Amino acid sequence: MLDNAFGQEPRWDPRVFPPASRAPRAVQTAHMLRDPRGFGLSLRRRFGPVFSARVHPYRAALVCATDAATNRAVLTDHERFVGGRATALLRPALGEGSLICTPPPRHLPHRRLLLPPFQGKQLAGWEDRVREVVRAALPGLLTGGDRPTRPWAQRLTLEVVLRVVFGLRDPARVAVFRDALTAFAGTGNVSTLFLPAPLRRDLGRLSPGGRFGRLRLHVRELIREEIAARREVADRESRDDVLSTLLDRYDAGPGDQRLLDELTGLVLAGYETTATTIAWTLHLLAHHGHTRDDLVADLDAGSDRLLKAVIKESGRLRPAVYNAMRTAAEDTSLGGHPVPRHAFVAALFPITHLDPELWPQPHAFRPERHLGADPLPYALTPFGGGLRRCIGVPLAQLEAEIVVTEVLARALPEPAGPPEPARLAAVTLVPARGGRVRFRRRGTL
Ligand code: HEM
Repeated sequence: MLDNAFGQEPRWDPRVFPPASRAPRAVQTAHMLRDPRGFGLSLRRRFGPVFSARVHPYRAALVCATDAATNRAVLTDHERFVGGRATALLRPALGEGSLICTPPPRHLPHRRLLLPPFQGKQLAGWEDRVREVVRAALPGLLTGGDRPTRPWAQRLTLEVVLRVVFGLRDPARVAVFRDALTAFAGTGNVSTLFLPAPLRRDLGRLSPGGRFGRLRLHVRELIREEIAARREVADRESRDDVLSTLLDRYDAGPGDQRLLDELTGLVLAGYETTATTIAWTLHLLAHHGHTRDDLVADLDAGSDRLLKAVIKESGRLRPAVYNAMRTAAEDTSLGGHPVPRHAFVAALFPITHLDPELWPQPHAFRPERHLGADPLPYALTPFGGGLRRCIGVPLAQLEAEIVVTEVLARALPEPAGPPEPARLAAVTLVPARGGRVRFRRRGTL
């Protein structure tokens, strides 16, 4: 099941890799899963901005870049650090033909096909629809005592992505998709991809591999039905969902199988990440009452300046994704260390985001720091960068801004326990207890 990117990975040899801890791979992997930020910070403290993390599933190591200069090199030097193959592990979930898994030279023309519906006019048209979904979902968040915000946000962002990507409105159909996708993309199932090879195989209905395959088939069947149904629609031009926009473009080129992979990839890339960002933002506001109150005052005065800064700061301090992945195209070097051809290389931006040279008091939640001059290039990259920067940024930001505005118009988030540390779930950095928050209705004490 593993792509040859894994087959081609060079063997571990400390002379040709950046420095690494001698701790056994299992110990390093456990540390990374339990405390992904602490793990990266401790290696950076020992070895400097570039090091090798000897962690599963990499047979040799994952080369990590953790300052602005090396982050930039990994994200933008596309000749030396190639994207698309390094995400092979996610291919069974996202689909062979999804943009995330497409290496050059196919990547760029493919990206041009996919970008238009995520930009400008089309996105502006989605604002009302997103707000409608958020308002309908709010009672589920604001009633009752303290609750984990991430499951609520996952339900919400999934519904948004289903509306935006497929134009789905029928609540019964949305529910069918939701059940299938929640079962499939549930963290436990995607984590199946990170199991050792023998455990990933389909060993029957109850095995992790068997379950993963069955749930995947169901999701793809549903998406196939949507593609078929959309072909029957006479006035497709009047529709603005992503599927309607892509149908003719893909009919003229890549074809149905690629379209199916693309749509699966978009849904999976788009909803857990955005939900996690929303959960972290509400959780951080709950634990920083002064900032929350300043934000409420700013929003009440009709400004979105602090709102944008809050979401930036949340993406700095608690980015939803742990890294952006590349492979080395040649024997090369990074930050003065050798990197062998075919090695896996990660821009570990959650650690770059905590670099005290770039961000004074890096562990403090201080949205005001984004109100002045722009940060140094590649000091802040929660969406990756270069030619592979996330195409869903405008949609994700729109969703996060609308959720925070609508929530704060009605209620104030307050702590429901201590601040939660981040855990690694597949590739996402999630709040350990779901981002618990207590909501107090505005105007009540
Ligand atoms: C807060 C929410 C999100 C975060 C934090 C996030 C983060 C990322 C990151 C780190 C990458 C890798 C970039 C790189 O390799 O340099 C990426 C790529 C991508 N994201 Fe997102 N993402 C989010 C939301 C979305 C949404 C809403 C969609 C679409 C519905 C989406 C679709 C994609 C696609 C298609 C790529 C691949 C781009 C390429 O390889 O050219 N993402 N995202």
